Amino acid sequence: MKKIYFILMIFILVFTIVACTQDNAGTTSISSPGEIEGEMIELTLEELSQYNGQGGNKAYVAVDGVIYDVTDVPQWQGGSHNGNTAGQDISDQIANLSPHGKRVLNNLKVVGALIGE
Ligand code: HEM
Repeated sequence: MKKIYFILMIFILVFTIVACTQDNAGTTSISSPGEIEGEMIELTLEELSQYNGQGGNKAYVAVDGVIYDVTDVPQWQGGSHNGNTAGQDISDQIANLSPHGKRVLNNLKVVGALIGE
């Protein structure tokens, strides 16, 4: 009887350790509703230019130092939208030339920040 009790205790101990380890593994990604999800990246303007939405590349744009993912935005299909190309800093264009302004940014996924050289 004592032996069975001992084995049972070992099982509970192993189960607890496994459960705790899995919990810790999940903490590496930040996730809050409608906001930042996953890891944030830092890109220079030159690095950002690779994310032009062409040839299977993701389409990212920077506005006021924040990098947004426009890959799945229908209006940005193929990496361009009304004369603008993905992979660039479009802060001036969105503020001064677009009819909608920055309100369209609210629906986008933030992927990171634009940094200097
Ligand atoms: C992250 C950047 C941008 C996103 C997500 C975006 C998204 C959109 C969306 C969803 C529409 C549909 C109508 C609406 O919601 O108002 C639209 C329309 C439009 N956008 Fe943008 N836009 C962006 C940047 C720009 C920029 C930089 C320009 C111009 C310099 C621009 C010019 C226009 C124009 C002229 C329209 C109206 C004509 C059309 O529907 O094609 N957009 N945009």
